[in-house]
Amino acid sequence: MIALNERQQEAVDFMDGCCIVHAVPGSGKTTAVVYRIINLVKKYGVPPESILGLTFTRSAASAMKERLADVLGKRASKVTLSTIHGFCLHFLRREGRKFDLLTGKDQVFFLKRVLKKLKVKDILPGMALRDISLAKSNAIDVDEFMDLYQGDSFMTKMGEIYRAYESEKKDELLLDLDDLLFMTYRVLKEEESIRDKYRHTYRHIIIDEAQDTNPLMQLLIRELVQDFGSESSFWLCGDEMQAIFSFNGSSVAAILEFTRIFERPAKRIVMDLNYRSSPEIVEVCQNLMRHNVRKIDKELKTMNGHDGDRVVIMECENQKDEALQVVNEIFDLVNRRGYSFRDIAVLYRANFQARVLEEVLSEHEVPYKVESGVSFYERYEVRGLVDYLRVIHNPDSDEADLALRNIVNIPNVTSAEPF
Ligand SMILES: Nc1ncnc2c1ncn2[C@@H]1O[C@H](COP(=O)(O)OP(=O)(O)O)[C@@H](O)[C@H]1O
Ligand SMILES: [Mg+2]
Repeated sequence: MIALNERQQEAVDFMDGCCIVHAVPGSGKTTAVVYRIINLVKKYGVPPESILGLTFTRSAASAMKERLADVLGKRASKVTLSTIHGFCLHFLRREGRKFDLLTGKDQVFFLKRVLKKLKVKDILPGMALRDISLAKSNAIDVDEFMDLYQGDSFMTKMGEIYRAYESEKKDELLLDLDDLLFMTYRVLKEEESIRDKYRHTYRHIIIDEAQDTNPLMQLLIRELVQDFGSESSFWLCGDEMQAIFSFNGSSVAAILEFTRIFERPAKRIVMDLNYRSSPEIVEVCQNLMRHNVRKIDKELKTMNGHDGDRVVIMECENQKDEALQVVNEIFDLVNRRGYSFRDIAVLYRANFQARVLEEVLSEHEVPYKVESGVSFYERYEVRGLVDYLRVIHNPDSDEADLALRNIVNIPNVTSAEPF
């Protein structure tokens, strides 16, 4: 166990009522969530099964479970600790709803079928799925969608797609990921006995990374916590500066206007001491954060020692130039400063930005792996095209034979001769 600082301790010890922890990156939010659960069980004698902890990634949930198990042993497994989607999945199954999940490629194919049926040719499935998902993230159902966009012919068409998609899914007992939330919300809102049961069960609700909640999630959570009395608490922590899912309908308002959404006064605690980074990095972040318009005033600080390198900011002409600078830096670290390639990570904001970087890294023979997502050269279409080029470039080679085998039926063609 680590020694918590005063603010962390206050957040961990909070009992009865609503508490919002405004925090900066690396200030111990996740640590506080884990310590809070331990504290509730060990110090306040709260039954572990009455604690619900919600996080945003599965890896965060499982990391927390592990840390809890170390201290609470068997009791840890009685705490409900899950992603919001995971919670909803269990909720719906427990409440007897029968369905299969519709996700990923299946979802795209499903929507393509809907488009075909409606004879819509000018809207791509990805685009329709995004609009439908955005509507659901804001708890907007088909009827409300149609009302909202009355008179807008394009969006009305989108609404028809939304309607057909929903009804086809219903016929086949399918739910997409947004439906998990939407349906859970509706059940909680409309079925009092179920709502009461869950409110009664989960007396202590804890939310990590609250800045990433979308309006639908907020409504859902509100159903779970609304009328709590004594010996219960609702506690959330987050950092409105790092809301990364804003394109997804999640809103910074989740934290900033929390009191308004939940219609109750809350205790506010600011945790602004960063434990993770060197002062050099913290200072640059603080300077950057000053430019945000909507914010809770908090200063990013650290007591870590001055042993970090200075942050270097480079302006580049274009993406190619940027990639070259990255490669130069990598060679500098490896050749002059004794690091190996595996010590170095390059971060980018969106997957498509990796392409130029990959090109330049390959050109300079820097070994690399793309950590998540598919490398540009591994993408289905790109792999196909490269195989075509291999065959054209050197048709008699073994490589070309292999390539030909990969592409002989891409795109689908019917050949009279068996290959
Ligand atoms: N009071 C503390 N003393 C020492 N280290 C701490 C303290 N609080 C947090 N840490 C460490 O700081 C790091 C960041 O904590 P974490 O809980 O992941 O922050 P956040 O979730 O806010 O990003 C972790 O390595 C954690 O162990
Ligand atoms: Mg965290």
